[in-house]
Amino acid sequence: MNPAARMLLANKSWVQEKLSQDPGYFQRFAPGQSPEFLWIGCSDSRIPPNEITVTSAGELFIHRNIANLVIADDLNVQSVLQYAVLVLQVPHVIVCGHHGCGGVRAAMSRETSGPLDTWLDNIRAVGERHADELAAITDEGERWDRLVELNVRAQIEQLANSEVIRTAWARGPRPRLHGWVYGLDDGVLRELVTVERPVAGD
Ligand code: CO
Repeated sequence: MNPAARMLLANKSWVQEKLSQDPGYFQRFAPGQSPEFLWIGCSDSRIPPNEITVTSAGELFIHRNIANLVIADDLNVQSVLQYAVLVLQVPHVIVCGHHGCGGVRAAMSRETSGPLDTWLDNIRAVGERHADELAAITDEGERWDRLVELNVRAQIEQLANSEVIRTAWARGPRPRLHGWVYGLDDGVLRELVTVERPVAGD
């Protein structure tokens, strides 16, 4: 059986299993969604957001792209942000990078071309802002992981300065911003940075 046909078959048995455990399972999703988190993560196939956070359908509103970037003029991520934050009013936005990120590595290697190369310029800009710190790290793997972390922090800054988040913070305390990094080799999520609405007067 071809892999796509196998997936459709697996879906049928999954539906049967869900219904046997809970006959109303699918009907409960019909009225709408009210997720607690917007998850902005890397497209990497080894990092399934619901699986690593042990969350279920309806809990995460998800956007993924190469190297989990939040770019001001990217209509895709900005419209996801707008809908999740201003319409669904998620209390938390998570940017999750991961050690061993191929996108970050490709940005360091400068061996890409086409749209991907333009996309990765955003990571190169982060690297240039921290050039001295990165140059001081002699181990290439450690330098790679450090750029992954700096990249997550940069995306949290981009979020905090975005029109959508500023609009939300003018209305109330939501959302809280979280920068995390996932360890591909140990499965552990680590907190890097948390940002809340600035206190009035700051
Ligand atoms: Co990645």
